[in-house]
Amino acid sequence: MSEELRFDGRVAIVTGAGNGLGRSHALLLGSRGAKVVVNDLGGGMHGDGRSSAAADKVVAEIRALGGEAVANHDSVEDGDRIVQTAMDHFGTVDIVVNNAGILRDVSFQKMSVQDWELIVRIHLNGSFRVSHAAWPILRDKGYGRIVMTTSAAGLYGNFGQANYSAAKLGLVGMANSLAIEGRSKGIHVNTIAPIAGSRLTETILPPELIAALKPEYVSPLVAWLCHERCKDSGGIYEVGAGYHARLRWERTRGQHFRARPFSVEELAAKWDKVGDFTQAEHPAGASAIAPILEGVQKPSRGGNEFIDVDEALAADI
Ligand code: NAI
Repeated sequence: MSEELRFDGRVAIVTGAGNGLGRSHALLLGSRGAKVVVNDLGGGMHGDGRSSAAADKVVAEIRALGGEAVANHDSVEDGDRIVQTAMDHFGTVDIVVNNAGILRDVSFQKMSVQDWELIVRIHLNGSFRVSHAAWPILRDKGYGRIVMTTSAAGLYGNFGQANYSAAKLGLVGMANSLAIEGRSKGIHVNTIAPIAGSRLTETILPPELIAALKPEYVSPLVAWLCHERCKDSGGIYEVGAGYHARLRWERTRGQHFRARPFSVEELAAKWDKVGDFTQAEHPAGASAIAPILEGVQKPSRGGNEFIDVDEALAADI
């Protein structure tokens, strides 16, 4: 039996931890020695109402297991207050699990501006606000683990979820950049796309599937990504019912017209090659745009140039 992976001395913030996945993540981290800030504003699944009961109940559950936890009832939109709760009670932050979320599913035709903005505010801006408030603390200590929660809807699209899909894929974009910025500071940022039975899914999934999709089957991945022994950063993982897989980008070899300008007809004639995945590659990181710039003169500073990470960190921009 391998050594138990523990979080003694670590402080974890789990947002939306009053129910479903967040509760399960908080219980697992708390049962393994982490001091946990159990954040939840205790509202309904569509963003209505609020109550302190959800977070308080999970704090009591963690304490009953012999763990340490404190409740925070703010919205993730007030991320600085959630981080302040960690500082006031535990003096630091090591781990941020951005999990809080709601749904406003409706076809794009019928989607109101409010439906769009609420979802972007809670999922994308909320994860930004919590992570951004924690970032200087993690950076100063040279250690951190951040998990974003995306969704299959964000990765692949889904009917009635244009707002949610946009916010969820936005989280992947944020994680990609934070993984690059955090690399030399010991801050690892990964993203999970879970499937689990919860109040968000119980109305759309049949009961037998809900039973097989326990939130508890997602939390080991979250705990591993938050552990000091896990060295991966910038990953996207699909997880549920015991299944774990990593996702990456795939790009065709493409068609590069080196004699420029080129015509629409020339492009149309090579269209099959643009879409031909037989010799695909898997671009990652800022160097992923290299093939586009290949053979192109390096643009001057201040132009459309990608920032060199090491130079940027050295200059402390
Ligand atoms: P859930 O509804 O059981 O739990 C979400 C929790 O977030 C609730 O306790 C809620 O009160 C809290 N919350 C909502 N807005 C908040 C805010 N502004 N500030 C603080 N807390 C807030 O949902 P579930 O299924 O556990 O979802 C957790 C995360 O996983 C969400 O981000 C969701 O989008 C994502 N997800 C879930 C999937 C699933 O199959 N259950 C699939 C893909 C993604």
